[in-house]
Amino acid sequence: MTWRATVLTLFPEVFPGPLGASLAGRGLRDGLWRLDALDIRSFGIGRHRSVDDTPFGGGAGMVLRPDVVDAACGAALAEAPGRPLVALTPRGEPLTQSTVRDLAAEAGVVLLCGRYEGVDQRVVEARGMREISVGDYVLSGGETAAMVLLDACVRLLPGVMGAAESAEEESFAADGLLEYPHYTRPAEWNGLRVPEVLLSGHHADVARWRRAEAERVTRERRPDLWARFRAAPPVASAEGRAPPLAARHGAA
Ligand code: ADE
Repeated sequence: MTWRATVLTLFPEVFPGPLGASLAGRGLRDGLWRLDALDIRSFGIGRHRSVDDTPFGGGAGMVLRPDVVDAACGAALAEAPGRPLVALTPRGEPLTQSTVRDLAAEAGVVLLCGRYEGVDQRVVEARGMREISVGDYVLSGGETAAMVLLDACVRLLPGVMGAAESAEEESFAADGLLEYPHYTRPAEWNGLRVPEVLLSGHHADVARWRRAEAERVTRERRPDLWARFRAAPPVASAEGRAPPLAARHGAA
């Protein structure tokens, strides 16, 4: 069954955008997933197809009307029912790989892109929307956030990624660590040599070095991920991916 995404937006012309290129784009052309951008304005009220109004209680900006958004949601779900509704908003729960995995396992998703000051909260709740943020910064609208979410989901769909990329996802999923750094030819560039161990041909040493680097980078850059990893380190896989235990024996 084709994974089906419907985006409710005031700017349908920006889709598929970058999702039309590379792996996601090939998957789209091959029918591994489907993308429909529905123009919220086509559900607008009156001759001017009005979609928003000023906020009750005063303040700047405009709020998307609940009746208009509800009609757009109804149209999307009539096409392909049973899909979760997601509203992209900086007020939402942070998007994580675990959420991405959950959404990729559904029949698809309906994404509501907010604009202006936001969306009337009644329709968000009445429709049981999941509010999701792609990061602690404010975008000018939900469209780029929707693209981020879709890109992350689509690459997990069966057939979209090659074997190499799939393995990479597995490793991130299993370990909860950031990736080790990568190097390629030339072995010396502008006087900078790649780490000698990578030239050694010794696979176990390379694996140990990469693991230690993944732990170091995570510890230095993401204390939050590091704390979680330390609290529940993953069990060694069949290929023995888990060791360097240096960090588990006292490194802060
Ligand atoms: N819309 C505006 N900013 C956003 C964010 N950070 N995440 C999701 N949707 C948004």
